[in-house]
Amino acid sequence: MENKEIKIENIKVIQAPLAGISDVVFRGLIRKHKSKCLMTTEMISSEMLCNNPNPRIIKFEDFEYPLAFQLVGHKIDKMTQAAKIVAPFASMIDINCGCPVKKVVVSGDGSAMMKTPDLAYDIVQSIKQATNLPVSVKCRLGWTKDEENYIEFAKKMESAGVSFITLHARTRSQMYQGRADWEKIKILKQELNIPVFANGDIKTIEDALECINLTKCDGVSIGRGIMGDFTLPYRIEKYLNDGEIIAQPTFEEKISMLKEHLNLEIEHMGEINGIKFMRKFYNYYIQGEKNASKYRSALVTLDNQKEINKILDEILSLHYQNA
Ligand SMILES: Cc1cc2nc3c(=O)[nH]c(=O)nc-3n(C[C@H](O)[C@H](O)[C@H](O)COP(=O)(O)O)c2cc1C
Repeated sequence: MENKEIKIENIKVIQAPLAGISDVVFRGLIRKHKSKCLMTTEMISSEMLCNNPNPRIIKFEDFEYPLAFQLVGHKIDKMTQAAKIVAPFASMIDINCGCPVKKVVVSGDGSAMMKTPDLAYDIVQSIKQATNLPVSVKCRLGWTKDEENYIEFAKKMESAGVSFITLHARTRSQMYQGRADWEKIKILKQELNIPVFANGDIKTIEDALECINLTKCDGVSIGRGIMGDFTLPYRIEKYLNDGEIIAQPTFEEKISMLKEHLNLEIEHMGEINGIKFMRKFYNYYIQGEKNASKYRSALVTLDNQKEINKILDEILSLHYQNA
């Protein structure tokens, strides 16, 4: 195993976990495009892990470090046991206090944890004690607009000893609607002494700079912005570290990234599952292109890699005809 230790002060970009999206292949492509960002696994149910205590059911590779394992759950004993199972492989543990999905929050997990800050506090302390690893918390603004408690909640997590907070600047009731409210990240940054990472709607270098300038946050956490452009984390890091602006990939480069992504997912999960999995991504790669929705509809019905690549070539040649 390569050195899994993390130096949080060196982290400017976090790959935000995207369940069902940011798998080992996805994260590997971010590393291939030279980013040193902190990787995060998709959320892992602590209950599931305790029932099947094999950390290798979560697929990860040595070259991914630094790598945070994100746990979801609300029971102190299960969260602690799950953390102990992944600890030998984890640079740190991230606790999911942001997932808004009904089947997650119904049992008190994910963003419902923001309603039980004392419990979240105990979970952080118990995991820290049991693993000796840094712990972070990813949370939202609160449950609803009228119940925004991100400041109190994050302060409580700071007093529990978390190394940083990632704030997705939406409430649970917003799900993924509306704009992330970066002003609230600015407020939180002023209130805490630990680093704050900004999350929500950062899709370009310009977004990252605007967000950092406004909020004075310590770095950015990017989820959907990486879908369709694996170079984004590196380009942001390069700008923040060296002031160098690297152009975004050309459409031709994006299509070849997409083909490679498809190919690697097929190698990883087999042709049928890999092709099905990739249907979530086409839109991100081809949005804005002429006839994008027609091509997307065609791509999501195909179950043969050669045919998919043929359509991608067609989109590419149309792109340059129209350029
Ligand atoms: C499909 C999908 C899956 C997600 N899975 C997770 C997850 O496993 N853990 C988590 O903390 N957040 C999860 N999120 C939330 C993202 O990490 C992130 O907070 C949100 O998408 C806003 O950031 P973005 O605009 O950069 O995507 C998910 C979001 C989406 C759209």
